[in-house]
Amino acid sequence: MNQYKDLFYSFHYDEIQGFDEIEKVARALSEIPTDFDVAELQKKPGLDRYKRMRASLDILPDKKQALGLEAKAHLNKVLPSIKPEAEDTNHKPHEKWSFRPGHIAFNPALGRLNELKTLLNDYFDFQCLQAGDFLYPPGGFRLWHTNKFDLESWFIFFVDVDKPKGSFFKFIDPDTNELITHWDEPGTVNIFRISSNNSDLLWHCIGSEDCHRWSQGFSIPDNWKEKVL
Ligand SMILES: [Fe+2]
Repeated sequence: MNQYKDLFYSFHYDEIQGFDEIEKVARALSEIPTDFDVAELQKKPGLDRYKRMRASLDILPDKKQALGLEAKAHLNKVLPSIKPEAEDTNHKPHEKWSFRPGHIAFNPALGRLNELKTLLNDYFDFQCLQAGDFLYPPGGFRLWHTNKFDLESWFIFFVDVDKPKGSFFKFIDPDTNELITHWDEPGTVNIFRISSNNSDLLWHCIGSEDCHRWSQGFSIPDNWKEKVL
């Protein structure tokens, strides 16, 4: 187990008792859609902008600008539910996956994570909420963000990569402002807490250097340590 304070934990599956079936089901999700083309992903913002966005992970975030972008993205996400004619920027109903800046998101409506979610609910005896189902291609990324507009909770992310240390999860210690880079390994489980409190925000980003990185996230109960540790 790799632990940073009470902020971030990373486990190999075999370090968590009772996670055998969860590992099998989670890792079976590591697929590359046949209709996915990295060049298309890069073309979305334009190749230059794509490269600039990827390079922004190398430095500490411009917090004001990043929070502004995050607020705007959040508004786009909730707008369709309060204003039906607004364009749904999330997923079209039958689309298996859709583009996000630097990565793709699988459509939760198609039930790709149902089996994993059921196993997780049983394990924690808790209604875990799905938080994301992503694939980052080589050179892919998720920009610096905080998730402050999402659920305040502990989250578990099942992470898989097709090359050890080919991608990273970076975060900033809210107390010391220290930047921590965690390099991903195949078949790992990351657990961290998302706060919406401005003094406890967990700034984080994801970047792939030269591998495919899959992650499936869920909220988990505050007492998760009683089961996992
Ligand atoms: Fe996040």
